[in-house]
Amino acid sequence: MPDPPDFVVTPYEVKGRIDYARLRELFGTQELTPELLDRVRAKAEGALHPLLERGIYYSHRDLGGILDQYAQGNPFFLYSGRGPSGPLHTSHLVPFDLCAWLQRVFDVPMYIQITDDEKFWFRPNLTRAETRRWGMENLYDLLAVGFDPNKTHVFFDTRSIAALYPLAADAAKKITYSTAKAVFGFPPSTNIGLIFYTALQTAPSFYPSWVTGRPVPCLIPCGIDQDPHFRVTRDIAEGLGYPKPGLLHSQMLPGLLGVDRVMSTTGDVADNALFLNDPPKEVERKIRKAFTGGRATVEEQRRLGATPEICSIWAAWRSKFAPDAKEFGQITDDCRSGALLCGDCKENLIGRVHTFLGEHQERREKAKEWAESVIIDRPPATAGATPAPPS
Ligand code: TRP
Repeated sequence: MPDPPDFVVTPYEVKGRIDYARLRELFGTQELTPELLDRVRAKAEGALHPLLERGIYYSHRDLGGILDQYAQGNPFFLYSGRGPSGPLHTSHLVPFDLCAWLQRVFDVPMYIQITDDEKFWFRPNLTRAETRRWGMENLYDLLAVGFDPNKTHVFFDTRSIAALYPLAADAAKKITYSTAKAVFGFPPSTNIGLIFYTALQTAPSFYPSWVTGRPVPCLIPCGIDQDPHFRVTRDIAEGLGYPKPGLLHSQMLPGLLGVDRVMSTTGDVADNALFLNDPPKEVERKIRKAFTGGRATVEEQRRLGATPEICSIWAAWRSKFAPDAKEFGQITDDCRSGALLCGDCKENLIGRVHTFLGEHQERREKAKEWAESVIIDRPPATAGATPAPPS
């Protein structure tokens, strides 16, 4: 027997130094191979999204099958979500950056779920009014990453429940209490909202199939911490007459205070993440105090070079702020060789983050104008008229 892992990854808890290869084995997911990435690259006419190219997305379930179906003329839809508990930070955008890119490349619909109920149940100190308010605030940010207003749909749980409930009810009947307890590790004090909740996160995976009466493949880009939900979804899908959703899993991004601490809004977060609404001075302060892979002295760093793999600043370049492959390669090489010092690298990043946040706020104002129009209130009257054929 191998040693038990010294990390924990569930949708409700991420802790310890995560061994991602080991986690993939524990979860039983597939490796995102160069062959699969080549199939996506071919459709993208040569250029992969950096999150795929640089291995931040590293694991999947059934991506090959989803691409086969697409090639045979049965396109998938994209689905991802966000539990609103506070302002978003840059790493919350990871799945949505990828989704917006996939939406463009494959010309497919996107469904976003905002789970204000989930965060209300999960966070003892948040009121429902607060999670609802954060839900709208977060939604504006997510829509601003570049989704097509004509192909994007939003389930806002406490508002869209009429659309989700029939499917959540079907799902809930197939999920036992002992499954929920085992999959999520719930202690006895867990409220029954959270025990039911996984049925609601499942519902969007089936929605287009339910509405159209034919099996529509679903692809879910998400942090690998969300995989337990979709393991449950996949186990019950075919029994309900729907295709199993495919998944694309990313690693959890490190925070500014060190690569062993994922960027999270739980705990002493303020200085560990760059929030999308941080004023410029805050951005500067946080980046200047961030943990790097640098040496103790300038002289040593010039002589020996620094270590990008343990550096929170390099992680920011890699995941978001240096999308150009040549530029990213240069930063990495100059870091390793000692040509680039941490102070200068940080100032460069500060400039880049200022530009991004400024542009983001503009796009966000535009997104506000159409956000209401993409929230689903109720299912079409014909939904569920033709039961999906068992596959
Ligand atoms: N549970 C997720 C969170 O805590 C929110 C969510 C809902 C989600 N549906 C999803 C995440 C689908 C990824 C994919 O943020």
